[in-house]
Amino acid sequence: MRLTAEQDLMMSGAHGSVLQRQMRLLARLGTVFGATEMVPIHSVQVSGVSYKSLGDPGLEFLEDLASQGARVRVATTLNPAGMDLHDWREMGVPADFAEKQLRIMAAFRALGISASPTCAPYLTGNVPRAGEHVAWAESSAVSYANSVLGARTNREGGPSALAAALCGCTPKHGLHLSENRQPHVVVEVAAKVTDNADFGALGYLVGKKVKNRVPYFRGLEVPRNDDLKALGAAMAASGAVALFHVEGVTPEAGDVDVEDLPAIVVPQEELDATYQALSSTEEAQLIVVGCPHASLSEIAVIAEKVRGRRLAAPLWICTARATKDEAVQLGLDEVIQAAGGRIVADTCMVVSPLERMGVDATAVTSGKAASYLPGFCSQRVLFRRLDDLLRGGGMPQ
Ligand code: F3S
Repeated sequence: MRLTAEQDLMMSGAHGSVLQRQMRLLARLGTVFGATEMVPIHSVQVSGVSYKSLGDPGLEFLEDLASQGARVRVATTLNPAGMDLHDWREMGVPADFAEKQLRIMAAFRALGISASPTCAPYLTGNVPRAGEHVAWAESSAVSYANSVLGARTNREGGPSALAAALCGCTPKHGLHLSENRQPHVVVEVAAKVTDNADFGALGYLVGKKVKNRVPYFRGLEVPRNDDLKALGAAMAASGAVALFHVEGVTPEAGDVDVEDLPAIVVPQEELDATYQALSSTEEAQLIVVGCPHASLSEIAVIAEKVRGRRLAAPLWICTARATKDEAVQLGLDEVIQAAGGRIVADTCMVVSPLERMGVDATAVTSGKAASYLPGFCSQRVLFRRLDDLLRGGGMPQ
């Protein structure tokens, strides 16, 4: 591994034992993956923020790191926490969980990390440019950064992302290299994919088929960025897709060669069947949207759909704090609350302790959430398009 003079100093312990340990971790990872050098990074997104996933060992590790004076060297943001950091009582989060979660956030702040957690940092100011190298950990954000923004990141783990933030670099391998950004398989979409949930269903299907390969989509009618967000998140959940191309849409799709690639076809019947395959109940206690975190325009669309109505089940819209603040300023929050909904910031349905909050059946529009909720939160799931859920489809009346 060739190191710069600065990286060499970190490695030798000249900048202290914390940086030495972090640099050693990066170098070991680089060696495993065949990297010969580090690449400087512009930003980091750290996963493993909820107390639900970190537990006491993770909390103690972070507090210990912070107590040793470690500070990040690049702009670093966090994945969702286990609760709305302001309104956790209203959400019904148990006090013992909240106390630990607040200590985790304090440790991250002491490390110099913005304690405004979201899985869609590209919607709130952390927007890498095409070709820029970053080290992000949240799988849906990795997919979006690589595919929609044309930035370059591997799918980091929590510890490697944190090490990259502290050292300002990451091993140069995988998707940091142009040769690994070529597609492996063409996906011919022969189904009508129009609703945002259809993109989640398609992503779930394709992720299962292509696993960790790079798919090249044909036949998608100009999707919106919110649709690409849903597609990438579901593919990263059911497979391990960290980069995809969409013909005529994503920034690198025009530069790749798809001539001799194998192809798979997604017919309408398979897409339709995914809604049933991901559902295990016909009735849910809670509707949750915003996986990945909702954009302001998604919140505005929901507010219009529920304006003047009373929903059959409570609704959560998960989003970033900054987006919630804008929604409040625009009066959208008020409309949603009047319908029985709530904009929930900083967290999501999967990383919150839903199963400890008396909820065991959840309705969602996200392919990723539908595939994670049974395992992570012991939920029965109803996976449907938004209009079906807001109409009361499957809800107790
Ligand atoms: Fe984000 Fe939670 Fe979904 S972290 S991508 S909203 S599972």
